[in-house]
Amino acid sequence: MKSTVVAVINQKGGVGKTTTAVNLATAVAAIGKKVLVLDLDPQGNATTGFGMPKGRGLKSSYGVLIGMTDANEVAEKTYVEGLYLIPSTIDLSAAEIELFSMKDRDNKLKTAIKDLEYDYIFIDCPPGFGFININALNASDKIVIPLQCEFYALEGLAQLFNTIQSVRNTINKNLIISGIILTMYDRRNSLSSIIANDVRSHFKNLVFDTVIPRNVRISEASSHGKPVILYDIRSTGAISYIELAREFLAREKESLINKKEEMSENRIAENV
Ligand SMILES: Nc1ncnc2c1ncn2[C@@H]1O[C@H](COP(=O)(O)OP(=O)(O)O)[C@@H](O)[C@H]1O
Ligand SMILES: [Mg+2]
Repeated sequence: MKSTVVAVINQKGGVGKTTTAVNLATAVAAIGKKVLVLDLDPQGNATTGFGMPKGRGLKSSYGVLIGMTDANEVAEKTYVEGLYLIPSTIDLSAAEIELFSMKDRDNKLKTAIKDLEYDYIFIDCPPGFGFININALNASDKIVIPLQCEFYALEGLAQLFNTIQSVRNTINKNLIISGIILTMYDRRNSLSSIIANDVRSHFKNLVFDTVIPRNVRISEASSHGKPVILYDIRSTGAISYIELAREFLAREKESLINKKEEMSENRIAENV
């Protein structure tokens, strides 16, 4: 069984990458899939988001990335049924520099996780475009892009698409954009709907129908080391992430049947 690897990426910080990686992964596991979250951010927010201790030394995504540790050995069961985590540690910040002088530096992660057996592996990516993220994009089949509904949302997206395109042109020609997720949508703020409409008119069906609202239960949940679905299943945050997981899996099915759609999605992305 080959896992489907999904990078949750946006070079901007604070847009909802970690929140989406943690909660989308939890909801997909709740639907019955076997899921791994790979915390690839030295900050380790996804790790603490599951209430797990930050990994130490090589027993973390750092060891996996630099090829010193077997990924299977580091993956830990979380208290969410069917959900596993490879924790992160601050050691990972050194990996950017260490990778620079390594042979085959763009392929390290891809090689390290190729034998893992999950339905889905969600990678929580750090901000920026360093070697860690190039490794993540190279190791991934798909990308989901959280986009915060705020004034500068679109700024930087062209740069992200350029990076994705250059990864496709060089090391990973099959990389697909699964979709853009509108996050922290505020119903009471008209700017949110203006931004959302703007993004939809530009990116069309590349944008998930499901919108993640700004919901205080989401941020509370992470400070309690829990995905929001376990913290408050009735909250709008939990409901929207479950809805997002359903839509994500429906798109997965569709893309298996309809490769043509992926092609047109890729063309939209190229035209940004
Ligand atoms: N939908 C949301 N509603 C309320 N707070 C949110 C929501 N999504 C994210 N947050 C909060 O915003 C902050 C940044 O989110 P995070 O997922 O850590 O972003 P990133 O990983 O892109 O840096 C965190 O404090 C998080 O709890
Ligand atoms: Mg993060």
